[in-house]
Amino acid sequence: AGNVTLTIIKPGAVERNLIGPILAKINEGGFVIKALKYTKLKKEQACEFYQEHEGKPFYDDLTDFMSSSPIVVAILEKENAVADFRKLIGSTDPLEADEGTIRKIFAASKTHNAVHGSDSDASAIRESDFFFSRVERF
Ligand code: CMP
Repeated sequence: AGNVTLTIIKPGAVERNLIGPILAKINEGGFVIKALKYTKLKKEQACEFYQEHEGKPFYDDLTDFMSSSPIVVAILEKENAVADFRKLIGSTDPLEADEGTIRKIFAASKTHNAVHGSDSDASAIRESDFFFSRVERF
């Protein structure tokens, strides 16, 4: 670890045909795609993925939204991946995100914020294990 992070292109962004444009930004940012899938979460799976936010006021809306339609999930590789990817995507709230960041360009709101990025190396490992089997990340 240290050199990987996990991203999700969220419902909304997928529905608005932004898979290609967002993956292009990710590649332009110097990240290499190590694993990739198109899938859809059940509500209980979204709740498990976001378990550290359980009890927060936005938890139910967040997990409803994340299980509402298909997503694209990827493991991304780059030196200093977690911090550099958070810089590339910008603040959680697109209104606070810097110009040129993925959320500034593509996000609709704080919940509908186009992409997820792991918040630590430990999260990157947990989240990669959640979505990908061993043979999917050779
Ligand atoms: P994400 O990077 O997927 O991790 C947790 C998500 O919770 C975050 O993106 C936002 O979509 C959502 N979130 C975090 N804080 C808030 C908030 N204050 N209001 C609404 N949604 C939030």
